[in-house]
Amino acid sequence: MDKTHLVDEITGHRRMRRNRKADWTRRLVQENRLTVDDLIWPIFIVPGTGIVDPIAAMPGVNRMSVDKAVEAVREAADLGIPAIATFPDIEMELRDETGSNSLVANNLINQATAAFKKAVPNIGIITDVALDPFTSHGHDGILRDGVIVNDETVDQIVRAAVMQADAGADIIAPSEMMDGRIGAIRRGLDAAGHQDVGIMSYATKFSSGFYGPYREAINTSGLLKGDKNSYYISPANGTEAVRDAALDVEEGADMLMVKPGIAYLDICWRIKEAFGLPVFAYQVSGEYTQIKAAAMNGWIDGERVMMETLLCFKRAGCDGILSYFAVEAAKKLAKNG
Ligand code: PBG
Repeated sequence: MDKTHLVDEITGHRRMRRNRKADWTRRLVQENRLTVDDLIWPIFIVPGTGIVDPIAAMPGVNRMSVDKAVEAVREAADLGIPAIATFPDIEMELRDETGSNSLVANNLINQATAAFKKAVPNIGIITDVALDPFTSHGHDGILRDGVIVNDETVDQIVRAAVMQADAGADIIAPSEMMDGRIGAIRRGLDAAGHQDVGIMSYATKFSSGFYGPYREAINTSGLLKGDKNSYYISPANGTEAVRDAALDVEEGADMLMVKPGIAYLDICWRIKEAFGLPVFAYQVSGEYTQIKAAAMNGWIDGERVMMETLLCFKRAGCDGILSYFAVEAAKKLAKNG
């Protein structure tokens, strides 16, 4: 070629586009892949039977009674989804200052666990021990004189964790960010003979506006007094988050979680690099809703953005993702695979 272009002097022989030129080269050099094994499906449980109740702020997501949830969980297992995470929306009459219903052995969440274990034994069950679904004030812990009291809350969630394990939970996922909870839960589980029950710590849970639709889903938004800034991490703080995760690792966490997801990919990367433990991101309700709402308006290609965000978690070092898209994404992966 005799014609010299201006760009030649800059690129020389370096041409990134050679590896991008065809579908086969792109497949060869692809660094990260999303598979169904990466997906954890969070679901909402309500009392009663035969209920599939759409959540307005989360188009496509329903609150389900245990019988209906069993069917949905079976479908998830058939798609190859490894695990679910369950959240209860209990009757208002059962919510009180201390979240005492969390200590009722056959409460809604434990009923659901037992039913899933029996009907769909091959799917993992992850349960949360935060008190917010059970308290009349919507906080994750016990509220005394305007303060969420740490140590008393930890005592209670340890007892709740043991009951959840008794009901068949495979992994306890404490999301309430109290200090010392991981070690306390580990000791409590071990003392009760639950050595095989794991702990996925919501190690870095940020005080985030992205939780809005979830609070509608479990009906805590109208209850919540104040904010959760005295126990969740500030979105401004990355080093503090890594330190918080370090304590959970020391105390015996088996897996770490970052929540929310997409706005916190730097944290995913940092804690994966720092500890090498399995790291999961929670693509939370507000993230789901943003994508759904924009897609419903025809402003973005929802399916494409769903798959893109899930893949980006993998690139950021995550071993898996909790996502309300899990079933939709699993179906798409099955179709393409
Ligand atoms: C509270 C809890 C939250 C979520 C799950 N458990 C946050 C909150 O309400 O403060 C959020 C999940 C989501 O937004 O999808 N323990």
